[in-house]
Amino acid sequence: MIIGIVAISKNYAIGKDGKLPWHYSADLRFFKEMTTGKTIVMGANTWRPIGKPLPNRLNVVLTRSDIETPTEVKKLRSVNEVLELSRTLTNDVFIIGGAKVFESFADVIEKWIVTYIPETIDGADTFMPENFLGGFTVTDTKDLSDGLQVKTLVRNRSGVKSLQEASMMGGRTWDIWIDEYSETHQNTVNEAMHILGIPMIAASIVLLPTLFIEFAMWRIIVELFVIGWALQFIGHFFEGKPPEFLKDRRFLLVGLRWWFKKVF
Ligand SMILES: NC(=O)c1ccc[n+]([C@@H]2O[C@H](COP(=O)([O-])OP(=O)(O)OC[C@H]3O[C@@H](n4cnc5c(N)ncnc54)[C@H](OP(=O)(O)O)[C@@H]3O)[C@@H](O)[C@H]2O)c1
Repeated sequence: MIIGIVAISKNYAIGKDGKLPWHYSADLRFFKEMTTGKTIVMGANTWRPIGKPLPNRLNVVLTRSDIETPTEVKKLRSVNEVLELSRTLTNDVFIIGGAKVFESFADVIEKWIVTYIPETIDGADTFMPENFLGGFTVTDTKDLSDGLQVKTLVRNRSGVKSLQEASMMGGRTWDIWIDEYSETHQNTVNEAMHILGIPMIAASIVLLPTLFIEFAMWRIIVELFVIGWALQFIGHFFEGKPPEFLKDRRFLLVGLRWWFKKVF
């Protein structure tokens, strides 16, 4: 199971100056108890100040950069790579933060374990969205010492965002597909070629019915289609990687969603 574990203040703060804005031994002990023997996934910003793997856990750092990590720490580049890893594991995978990583996994987290810190943090710079528990139901509440309370929440099966129900195309959400697509569209020339080419191909398909009214439109339609595809292949030449749809045709649809996400 993919589980999010977080400690939040009354004003939804989770971090300040790259660190936790509080020190509660009871919460650290609880975190250790929950995650020992399991897999923990953290973002590069959370990893940096820790700097060494938390013991007795498989430590995964999510990053697209070439940061240095000890050999026992697994570096992964996308949500999708984490999900692939999780399929090979028998244990739970804990997403431990920070905010950017929680956002990346928002659609796939099935359970949240939330420690409520009884403080309002001034000057915090990292927050959880106020609605991050929307669609989740509290199944357990327990008190730690120092006035801390922990709630466990599970995703509503009837909720809009249950993984199986909201996901599409092979049990993966659009965000995960787009994430994978983005990995092979990092080169700026390739990105520009796709931003131009994808709407040309889409327009050529949308214009097809006009042939019934004005057959001379075929020329424009063919030109849009051919130029649109040519731009994509030129882009992939610069990227040095083949287009995804050659391995899986569902990426033809993902490309369109990627375009909307980029442009709007
Ligand atoms: N209260 C809590 O429970 C809690 C828990 C953890 C952390 N925190 C706090 O949160 C703060 C850090 O949070 P943050 O949001 O700034 O950073 P973060 O989520 O720890 O790390 C962000 C970085 O992770 C990588 N990343 C994130 N999503 C990715 C994706 N989908 N694919 C590939 N890489 C991805 C990127 O690294 P690259 O830029 O290297 O590619 C990104 O810049 C700190 O203050 C920390 O103490 C609080």
